[in-house]
Amino acid sequence: MILDLQNIFKDYQQDKLVVPVLKDVSLQVEEGEYVAIMGPSGSGKTTLMNIIGCLDRPTSGTYQLAGEDVLKCRDKEMSDLRLRSIGFVFQSFQLLSRQSAMDNVALPLSYAGIKKKERRQRAIQALERVGLGDRVAFKPTQLSGGQKQRVAIARAMVNNPKILLADEPTGALDSKSGEQIMELFERLNEEGVTIVMITHDRNIASKAKRIVHIIDGVITEEGAGKEGREGAKSQEESQDHADGIFIQQKNIDGMPEERSVNGDAGHITEEGSGGQEDSGDNSQKRGKHKKRGVSIWKKNGKEEKNG
Ligand SMILES: Nc1ncnc2c1ncn2[C@@H]1O[C@H](COP(=O)(O)OP(=O)(O)OP(=O)(O)O)[C@@H](O)[C@H]1O
Ligand SMILES: [Mg+2]
Repeated sequence: MILDLQNIFKDYQQDKLVVPVLKDVSLQVEEGEYVAIMGPSGSGKTTLMNIIGCLDRPTSGTYQLAGEDVLKCRDKEMSDLRLRSIGFVFQSFQLLSRQSAMDNVALPLSYAGIKKKERRQRAIQALERVGLGDRVAFKPTQLSGGQKQRVAIARAMVNNPKILLADEPTGALDSKSGEQIMELFERLNEEGVTIVMITHDRNIASKAKRIVHIIDGVITEEGAGKEGREGAKSQEESQDHADGIFIQQKNIDGMPEERSVNGDAGHITEEGSGGQEDSGDNSQKRGKHKKRGVSIWKKNGKEEKNG
Protein backbone atom coordinates (compact mmCIF):
# COMPACT_ATOMS: atom_id res chain seq x y z
CA MET A 1 0.00 0.00 0.00
CA ILE A 2 1.59 3.26 -1.09
CA LEU A 3 -1.05 5.63 0.34
CA ASP A 4 -3.07 4.77 3.41
CA LEU A 5 -5.24 7.51 4.83
CA GLN A 6 -7.52 6.57 7.72
CA ASN A 7 -10.28 8.62 9.31
CA ILE A 8 -9.01 11.95 8.05
CA PHE A 9 -10.84 15.02 9.27
CA LYS A 10 -9.92 18.53 8.21
CA ASP A 11 -11.49 21.67 9.62
CA TYR A 12 -10.65 25.19 8.61
CA GLN A 13 -11.07 28.06 10.98
CA GLN A 14 -12.72 31.03 9.32
CA ASP A 15 -12.89 33.81 11.92
CA LYS A 16 -14.91 32.24 14.70
CA LEU A 17 -16.50 29.68 12.42
CA VAL A 18 -15.10 26.19 12.19
CA VAL A 19 -15.60 24.89 8.66
CA PRO A 20 -15.47 21.08 8.52
CA VAL A 21 -14.14 20.17 5.07
CA LEU A 22 -13.03 16.53 5.22
CA LYS A 23 -15.19 14.25 7.32
CA ASP A 24 -13.79 10.88 8.15
CA VAL A 25 -12.09 10.24 4.83
CA SER A 26 -10.30 6.91 4.45
CA LEU A 27 -8.51 6.17 1.19
CA GLN A 28 -6.08 3.42 0.30
CA VAL A 29 -4.09 3.41 -2.92
CA GLU A 30 -1.87 0.52 -4.02
CA GLU A 31 1.42 1.12 -5.77
CA GLY A 32 0.88 1.45 -9.52
CA GLU A 33 -2.78 2.44 -9.29
CA TYR A 34 -4.29 5.25 -11.35
CA VAL A 35 -7.07 6.94 -9.39
CA ALA A 36 -9.29 9.84 -10.38
CA ILE A 37 -10.97 11.89 -7.68
CA MET A 38 -14.17 13.57 -8.79
CA GLY A 39 -16.46 15.88 -6.91
CA PRO A 40 -18.19 19.23 -7.08
CA SER A 41 -16.49 22.53 -6.39
CA GLY A 42 -15.83 23.00 -2.69
CA SER A 43 -16.21 19.31 -1.85
CA GLY A 44 -12.66 19.08 -0.48
CA LYS A 45 -10.65 17.63 -3.39
CA THR A 46 -7.77 20.08 -3.21
CA THR A 47 -7.83 19.93 0.57
CA LEU A 48 -7.44 16.15 0.35
CA MET A 49 -4.76 16.45 -2.33
CA ASN A 50 -2.78 18.86 -0.15
CA ILE A 51 -2.87 16.33 2.67
CA ILE A 52 -1.88 13.44 0.38
CA GLY A 53 0.90 15.64 -1.00
CA CYS A 54 2.27 16.45 2.47
CA LEU A 55 1.54 20.12 1.91
CA ASP A 56 -0.94 20.31 4.75
CA ARG A 57 -1.84 18.36 7.87
CA PRO A 58 -5.29 17.08 8.72
CA THR A 59 -7.06 18.05 11.93
CA SER A 60 -7.10 14.36 12.85
CA GLY A 61 -6.58 10.94 11.33
CA THR A 62 -3.61 8.86 10.25
CA TYR A 63 -1.65 8.84 7.03
CA GLN A 64 1.02 6.38 5.93
CA LEU A 65 2.95 7.18 2.78
CA ALA A 66 4.99 4.21 1.55
CA GLY A 67 4.94 2.88 5.09
CA GLU A 68 6.03 6.14 6.71
CA ASP A 69 3.84 7.76 9.30
CA VAL A 70 3.57 11.19 7.69
CA LEU A 71 1.76 12.93 10.51
CA LYS A 72 4.44 12.00 13.02
CA CYS A 73 7.05 13.73 10.83
CA ARG A 74 8.32 17.23 11.59
CA ASP A 75 7.83 19.81 8.84
CA LYS A 76 11.36 19.35 7.52
CA GLU A 77 10.98 15.56 7.34
CA MET A 78 7.62 16.03 5.67
CA SER A 79 9.07 18.26 2.97
CA ASP A 80 11.92 15.81 2.41
CA LEU A 81 9.42 13.00 2.06
CA ARG A 82 7.44 15.12 -0.38
CA LEU A 83 10.51 15.93 -2.48
CA ARG A 84 11.53 12.28 -2.60
CA SER A 85 8.18 10.66 -3.21
CA ILE A 86 5.75 13.00 -4.93
CA GLY A 87 5.51 14.96 -8.15
CA PHE A 88 2.83 17.64 -8.51
CA VAL A 89 0.95 18.90 -11.53
CA PHE A 90 -1.49 21.80 -11.26
CA GLN A 91 -4.18 23.28 -13.46
CA SER A 92 -2.27 26.56 -13.70
CA PHE A 93 1.12 24.89 -14.45
CA GLN A 94 2.96 26.83 -11.72
CA LEU A 95 6.07 27.45 -13.77
CA LEU A 96 8.60 30.18 -13.06
CA SER A 97 7.91 32.59 -15.88
CA ARG A 98 11.39 34.05 -16.21
CA GLN A 99 13.15 30.72 -16.35
CA SER A 100 13.61 28.36 -19.26
CA ALA A 101 11.83 25.03 -19.52
CA MET A 102 15.09 23.35 -18.54
CA ASP A 103 15.59 25.50 -15.43
CA ASN A 104 11.99 24.96 -14.38
CA VAL A 105 12.40 21.21 -14.70
CA ALA A 106 15.75 21.25 -12.92
CA LEU A 107 14.37 23.10 -9.89
CA PRO A 108 13.44 20.09 -7.73
CA LEU A 109 16.89 18.63 -8.40
CA SER A 110 18.61 21.65 -6.92
CA TYR A 111 16.66 21.06 -3.71
CA ALA A 112 17.78 17.47 -3.82
CA GLY A 113 21.37 18.75 -3.82
CA ILE A 114 22.30 17.54 -7.29
CA LYS A 115 25.17 19.29 -9.11
CA LYS A 116 24.47 21.69 -11.93
CA LYS A 117 25.78 19.59 -14.80
CA GLU A 118 23.75 16.57 -13.79
CA ARG A 119 20.70 18.75 -13.15
CA ARG A 120 20.84 20.04 -16.71
CA GLN A 121 21.32 16.56 -18.17
CA ARG A 122 18.44 15.14 -16.20
CA ALA A 123 16.18 18.11 -16.97
CA ILE A 124 16.86 17.70 -20.70
CA GLN A 125 16.15 13.97 -20.48
CA ALA A 126 12.89 14.67 -18.65
CA LEU A 127 11.89 17.19 -21.32
CA GLU A 128 12.72 14.68 -24.03
CA ARG A 129 10.54 12.17 -22.24
CA VAL A 130 7.53 14.49 -22.62
CA GLY A 131 8.35 15.27 -26.24
CA LEU A 132 9.88 18.71 -25.63
CA GLY A 133 13.51 18.03 -26.43
CA ASP A 134 13.38 20.91 -28.91
CA ARG A 135 12.02 23.42 -26.39
CA VAL A 136 14.53 23.25 -23.54
CA ALA A 137 15.56 26.92 -23.77
CA PHE A 138 12.02 28.25 -24.23
CA LYS A 139 10.40 30.26 -21.45
CA PRO A 140 6.81 29.56 -20.40
CA THR A 141 5.55 32.63 -22.31
CA GLN A 142 6.99 31.07 -25.47
CA LEU A 143 5.12 27.80 -24.99
CA SER A 144 1.52 26.73 -25.60
CA GLY A 145 -0.68 25.67 -22.71
CA GLY A 146 -0.23 21.99 -23.49
CA GLN A 147 3.53 22.44 -23.75
CA LYS A 148 3.60 24.29 -20.42
CA GLN A 149 1.77 21.42 -18.81
CA ARG A 150 4.25 18.97 -20.32
CA VAL A 151 7.10 21.03 -18.82
CA ALA A 152 5.27 20.83 -15.48
CA ILE A 153 4.99 17.05 -15.86
CA ALA A 154 8.70 16.81 -16.70
CA ARG A 155 9.41 18.81 -13.54
CA ALA A 156 7.10 16.58 -11.52
CA MET A 157 8.88 13.46 -12.76
CA VAL A 158 12.51 14.61 -12.82
CA ASN A 159 13.18 13.21 -9.33
CA ASN A 160 11.60 9.90 -10.35
CA PRO A 161 8.92 10.07 -7.67
CA LYS A 162 6.71 7.04 -7.19
CA ILE A 163 3.57 9.16 -6.99
CA LEU A 164 2.17 11.80 -9.30
CA LEU A 165 -0.54 14.06 -7.88
CA ALA A 166 -2.46 16.16 -10.37
CA ASP A 167 -5.12 18.75 -9.54
CA GLU A 168 -7.22 19.39 -12.66
CA PRO A 169 -4.24 18.87 -14.97
CA THR A 170 -6.34 19.45 -18.08
CA GLY A 171 -8.60 22.15 -16.62
CA ALA A 172 -6.89 24.99 -18.46
CA LEU A 173 -6.33 23.12 -21.73
CA ASP A 174 -8.25 22.58 -24.94
CA SER A 175 -9.45 19.04 -25.49
CA LYS A 176 -6.64 18.03 -27.84
CA SER A 177 -3.88 19.19 -25.48
CA GLY A 178 -5.81 17.54 -22.66
CA GLU A 179 -5.76 14.25 -24.58
CA GLN A 180 -1.99 14.50 -24.97
CA ILE A 181 -1.59 15.04 -21.26
CA MET A 182 -3.76 11.98 -20.61
CA GLU A 183 -1.63 9.90 -22.98
CA LEU A 184 1.41 11.00 -21.04
CA PHE A 185 -0.23 10.03 -17.75
CA GLU A 186 -1.16 6.62 -19.14
CA ARG A 187 2.42 6.07 -20.23
CA LEU A 188 3.78 7.08 -16.84
CA ASN A 189 1.30 4.77 -15.15
CA GLU A 190 2.37 1.92 -17.42
CA GLU A 191 5.92 2.64 -16.31
CA GLY A 192 4.76 2.06 -12.73
CA VAL A 193 4.02 5.57 -11.47
CA THR A 194 1.07 5.74 -9.06
CA ILE A 195 -1.25 8.55 -10.17
CA VAL A 196 -3.90 10.39 -8.20
CA MET A 197 -5.71 12.93 -10.36
CA ILE A 198 -8.47 15.37 -9.51
CA THR A 199 -10.85 16.19 -12.30
CA HIS A 200 -14.32 17.55 -12.94
CA ASP A 201 -14.39 16.01 -16.38
CA ARG A 202 -15.87 12.56 -16.71
CA ASN A 203 -14.05 11.83 -19.96
CA ILE A 204 -10.78 12.64 -18.29
CA ALA A 205 -11.69 10.61 -15.19
CA SER A 206 -12.52 7.63 -17.39
CA LYS A 207 -8.82 7.37 -18.34
CA ALA A 208 -8.08 6.38 -14.76
CA LYS A 209 -8.50 2.78 -13.63
CA ARG A 210 -10.47 3.73 -10.55
CA ILE A 211 -12.75 6.63 -9.75
CA VAL A 212 -13.37 7.93 -6.27
CA HIS A 213 -16.08 10.48 -5.53
CA ILE A 214 -15.87 13.08 -2.85
CA ILE A 215 -19.04 14.84 -1.89
CA ASP A 216 -19.29 17.26 0.98
CA GLY A 217 -16.02 15.97 2.33
CA VAL A 218 -17.12 12.34 2.33
CA ILE A 219 -15.54 9.68 0.11
CA THR A 220 -17.56 6.97 -1.59
CA GLU A 221 -15.78 3.95 -3.02
CA GLU A 222 -16.94 1.88 -5.96
CA GLY A 223 -18.13 -1.49 -4.77
CA ALA A 224 -20.06 0.24 -2.00
CA GLY A 225 -23.09 -0.73 -4.07
CA LYS A 226 -24.93 0.76 -7.01
CA GLU A 227 -27.36 2.65 -4.79
CA GLY A 228 -24.57 4.46 -3.03
CA ARG A 229 -23.00 5.41 -6.34
CA GLU A 230 -26.20 6.64 -7.89
CA GLY A 231 -26.99 8.57 -4.75
CA ALA A 232 -23.53 10.02 -4.75
CA LYS A 233 -23.85 11.04 -8.36
CA SER A 234 -27.15 12.84 -8.00
CA GLN A 235 -25.94 14.57 -4.86
CA GLU A 236 -22.86 15.62 -6.73
CA GLU A 237 -24.93 17.05 -9.55
CA SER A 238 -27.18 18.99 -7.20
CA GLN A 239 -24.19 20.20 -5.20
CA ASP A 240 -22.75 21.67 -8.35
CA HIS A 241 -25.65 24.08 -8.39
CA ALA A 242 -26.11 24.49 -4.66
CA ASP A 243 -25.98 27.94 -3.19
CA GLY A 244 -23.36 28.22 -0.50
CA ILE A 245 -22.27 31.00 1.73
CA PHE A 246 -19.75 33.08 -0.16
CA ILE A 247 -16.60 34.25 1.45
CA GLN A 248 -13.84 36.33 0.00
CA GLN A 249 -10.30 35.13 0.01
CA LYS A 250 -7.32 37.02 -1.27
CA ASN A 251 -4.98 35.36 -3.68
CA ILE A 252 -1.29 36.06 -3.85
CA ASP A 253 -1.80 38.65 -6.55
CA GLY A 254 -4.22 40.44 -4.27
CA MET A 255 -7.27 39.58 -6.34
CA PRO A 256 -10.14 38.51 -4.11
CA GLU A 257 -11.92 35.42 -5.26
CA GLU A 258 -15.28 34.06 -4.28
CA ARG A 259 -15.36 30.66 -2.70
CA SER A 260 -18.42 28.73 -1.87
CA VAL A 261 -18.58 27.33 1.63
CA ASN A 262 -21.12 24.67 2.20
CA GLY A 263 -20.36 24.19 5.89
CA ASP A 264 -20.92 20.51 5.10
CA ALA A 265 -18.10 19.14 3.03
CA GLY A 266 -15.83 16.09 3.21
CA HIS A 267 -16.66 12.40 2.21
CA ILE A 268 -15.58 10.09 -0.79
CA THR A 269 -17.49 7.87 -3.30
CA GLU A 270 -15.97 5.52 -5.85
CA GLU A 271 -17.09 4.01 -9.09
CA GLY A 272 -15.69 1.78 -11.83
CA SER A 273 -14.08 3.77 -14.58
CA GLY A 274 -16.30 4.35 -17.49
CA GLY A 275 -17.83 6.91 -19.43
CA GLN A 276 -20.82 9.10 -18.93
CA GLU A 277 -20.56 12.65 -20.30
CA ASP A 278 -20.03 15.52 -17.92
CA SER A 279 -19.36 19.00 -19.12
CA GLY A 280 -17.82 20.13 -15.80
CA ASP A 281 -17.41 23.88 -15.51
CA ASN A 282 -13.84 24.48 -14.47
CA SER A 283 -13.64 28.19 -14.93
CA GLN A 284 -14.09 29.09 -11.27
CA LYS A 285 -11.27 26.82 -10.25
CA ARG A 286 -8.38 28.54 -11.97
CA GLY A 287 -5.40 29.47 -9.92
CA LYS A 288 -6.57 28.01 -6.66
CA HIS A 289 -3.15 26.80 -5.63
CA LYS A 290 -1.62 30.11 -6.46
CA LYS A 291 -4.27 31.80 -4.43
CA ARG A 292 -3.58 29.70 -1.42
CA GLY A 293 0.14 30.21 -1.93
CA VAL A 294 0.98 26.56 -1.60
CA SER A 295 4.69 26.08 -1.95
CA ILE A 296 5.83 22.67 -3.09
CA TRP A 297 9.54 23.21 -2.79
CA LYS A 298 10.91 24.14 0.54
CA LYS A 299 14.40 23.90 1.76
CA ASN A 300 15.80 25.08 5.05
CA GLY A 301 12.69 27.14 5.61
CA LYS A 302 13.17 29.00 2.32
CA GLU A 303 10.35 28.85 -0.15
CA GLU A 304 10.44 29.05 -3.89
CA LYS A 305 7.64 31.24 -5.17
CA ASN A 306 6.43 31.63 -8.68
CA GLY A 307 7.99 34.42 -10.69
N1 LIG B 1 -7.61 28.04 3.95
C1 LIG B 1 -8.93 27.87 4.04
N2 LIG B 1 -9.65 28.49 5.00
C2 LIG B 1 -10.98 28.30 5.11
N3 LIG B 1 -11.69 27.50 4.29
C3 LIG B 1 -11.03 26.88 3.31
C4 LIG B 1 -9.63 27.02 3.13
N4 LIG B 1 -9.26 26.24 2.08
C5 LIG B 1 -10.37 25.66 1.63
N5 LIG B 1 -11.44 26.03 2.37
C6 LIG B 1 -12.81 25.57 2.20
O1 LIG B 1 -12.79 24.17 2.10
C7 LIG B 1 -13.73 23.72 1.16
C8 LIG B 1 -13.08 22.77 0.18
O2 LIG B 1 -12.12 23.46 -0.59
P1 LIG B 1 -11.27 22.72 -1.71
O3 LIG B 1 -10.35 23.72 -2.29
O4 LIG B 1 -10.68 21.52 -1.13
O5 LIG B 1 -12.41 22.34 -2.74
P2 LIG B 1 -12.30 21.60 -4.14
O6 LIG B 1 -13.10 20.38 -4.06
O7 LIG B 1 -10.87 21.48 -4.54
O8 LIG B 1 -13.06 22.63 -5.09
P3 LIG B 1 -12.73 23.06 -6.62
O9 LIG B 1 -13.30 21.98 -7.47
O10 LIG B 1 -13.48 24.33 -6.77
O11 LIG B 1 -11.26 23.22 -6.77
C9 LIG B 1 -14.32 24.96 0.52
O12 LIG B 1 -15.59 25.16 1.06
C10 LIG B 1 -13.38 26.05 0.91
O13 LIG B 1 -14.03 27.28 1.05
MG1 LIG C 1 -9.68 22.30 -6.02
